[in-house]
Amino acid sequence: MDLGINGKTALVTASSGGMGKNIAHALAAEGVNVVLFARSADTLRTVADEIEQKYRVRAVGVPGDMRVENDVQRLATVLEGEFGGPDIVVLNTSRPPNPIRATVDESDAARWDEAYRNQLWSAIHVLGRMIPLMQDRGWGRLIAVTSASVKSPMPHHSLSTVFRAGVTAYMKHLANELGSKGITANCVAPALIETPHRTGTAAYTADQATARKKLTPLGRMGTQEELAGVVTFLASMQAGFITGSTIAVEGGMVGSLF
Ligand SMILES: NC(=O)c1ccc[n+]([C@@H]2O[C@H](COP(=O)([O-])OP(=O)(O)OC[C@H]3O[C@@H](n4cnc5c(N)ncnc54)[C@H](OP(=O)(O)O)[C@@H]3O)[C@@H](O)[C@H]2O)c1
Repeated sequence: MDLGINGKTALVTASSGGMGKNIAHALAAEGVNVVLFARSADTLRTVADEIEQKYRVRAVGVPGDMRVENDVQRLATVLEGEFGGPDIVVLNTSRPPNPIRATVDESDAARWDEAYRNQLWSAIHVLGRMIPLMQDRGWGRLIAVTSASVKSPMPHHSLSTVFRAGVTAYMKHLANELGSKGITANCVAPALIETPHRTGTAAYTADQATARKKLTPLGRMGTQEELAGVVTFLASMQAGFITGSTIAVEGGMVGSLF
């Protein structure tokens, strides 16, 4: 199926590794030029080179931090100067503070502040700079990666749930305000997506990971491609009548009907 986005430009944030990088690959495979944004300049350059060689699209890495004003301003300058602005913005963010804890044990203001700035403020901050570049293009896609915990709170995930619920509300407001400009705003809410183990960052022990697979009717973890594919579909022409929605990618873990 032709997704109708060949030649468009996508910003993918938090994209030097993990889901962000895989989403950038999936969009580039559809002929989308990609702008990558994360803090590690060398890794970004490697990812951009890989994408350019593999898909024959433009891939530009802009090193920076989603929470830092000057960095996000620099990102906007690159997008406007080199592409006239983004058509598609995928808001991926860093993981919440590690290790995860029971809600009653989350009393450390520094952890709440870190979660707020990483999960909620960074998304609002980046979109605040991108929307003015998109408003007059007549077409746009805003897609935030949140968490299935927004729909069915998972134990020990309050730092994620609270602020991603905020992102979900923010995207709904944007959907209402930007629909008349041809811009849709949606969330993709993952859980149980297989993530390459990075030393010191795994939130779960091996036993916990085994137990988590049993939480879904499918009895397995999801792949990075299954997550990136849904994001890419939401970026497509065919998804033009979906806005203000959250698409869950969690193997049926959430037990509700909708
Ligand atoms: N796996 C799942 O099932 C699941 C479920 C629910 C939610 N999620 C969420 O999905 C998101 C992606 O997960 P992941 O496993 O792919 O994460 P990851 O492997 O830890 O990658 C995070 C990315 O964010 C970048 N980053 C971190 N802080 C940043 C900042 N301040 N500014 C710019 N870039 C920043 C990192 O690059 P640099 O270090 O180079 O900046 C890296 O590229 C996370 O928010 C995670 O909580 C995942």
